[in-house]
Amino acid sequence: MERSGMPGGDAAAPKGQVAPEETLAAEGVNKAVPLAIRIIILRGAKTHHPFQADSYIPIQKPKENPMNKTLRTPVIAGNWKMNLLPSQTGAFVKELKAATAEADCSAPSGRDACGVVLCVPYVNLCAAIGAAAGSHLKIGAQNCHWAESGAFTGEVSAAMLKDLGVEYVIVGHSERRAYFGDTDQTVHGRTRAALDAGLKVILCVGEVKEERLQGVTLEVVRLQTKIALGGVTEAELRGVVIAYEPVWAIGTGLTATAAQANEVCLAIRDFLAEFYGRDAADAAVIQYGGSMNAGNAAELLAQPDVDGGLIGGASLKAADFAAIVKAAGRQGVSASTVK
Ligand code: 13P
Repeated sequence: MERSGMPGGDAAAPKGQVAPEETLAAEGVNKAVPLAIRIIILRGAKTHHPFQADSYIPIQKPKENPMNKTLRTPVIAGNWKMNLLPSQTGAFVKELKAATAEADCSAPSGRDACGVVLCVPYVNLCAAIGAAAGSHLKIGAQNCHWAESGAFTGEVSAAMLKDLGVEYVIVGHSERRAYFGDTDQTVHGRTRAALDAGLKVILCVGEVKEERLQGVTLEVVRLQTKIALGGVTEAELRGVVIAYEPVWAIGTGLTATAAQANEVCLAIRDFLAEFYGRDAADAAVIQYGGSMNAGNAAELLAQPDVDGGLIGGASLKAADFAAIVKAAGRQGVSASTVK
């Protein structure tokens, strides 16, 4: 039976608007406090927290459920961010296609061993879609607006992306949250708009360094996930990939340990199970992102609850990105042979 999924969403906010006040109220935050302040409260007061630690703290003991990995197809997604020119895109995609064609993206079990997505700047999309046509490579954008259309100069709607042939869109990336004012509420709106337009969503969640040091990583990713997925149904959840990206690991060369990555991915999965049921949670694709590269990918991807990666810097060279895809393909094949 279809489960209703996360509370909130459309029931409380008209389509195309940011998420409902009720979501914040449900978290025990006074409605009289202005929205921006409430979000700061929800994210935690960072400067006066009594807890000071100089190393990352393990939060919970990971549980092992490796059998469920066979239910999922890992997704390796590249996020070019604001890099590479439109004129460089076609040649790159052709090189990546060739380099990953032999990556055994089709497992003997009949299902794909690994999905490969490349998320490029808006202006590179046409070139990328043209060069990837007819191949295993899927093209994604890096953001979309929450409204269907309207007076939003400089913005791009999910329907525009869909019309162009885009299949995936990243929402809630920490760089959008940090530099462009994205909040859990706007991430909810973008997620809703993307799903309504028929796009697959790569939803980014993750704690900043202070939050990890304060021991609130799981609370932070739960809250981000809960608000973003407000009103999203179990059927719609199949179109969502969750990317756990600890902000302190992005572009820093500092990678979460395989155990740290797995414990948060597992916690997100358990959280999904509360709302969508165990089967839907076990089928959900949850990636790790943050300084993943050809050297560390195999260990991260071997974790029972890590289903692929969201790759920044290492997606800018076709050979490096292909090496990660190959590592995921091997994991997919070996997981699919587990009886
Ligand atoms: P890096 O792989 O460069 O750390 O970036 C990760 C990321 O932000 C992907 O979205």
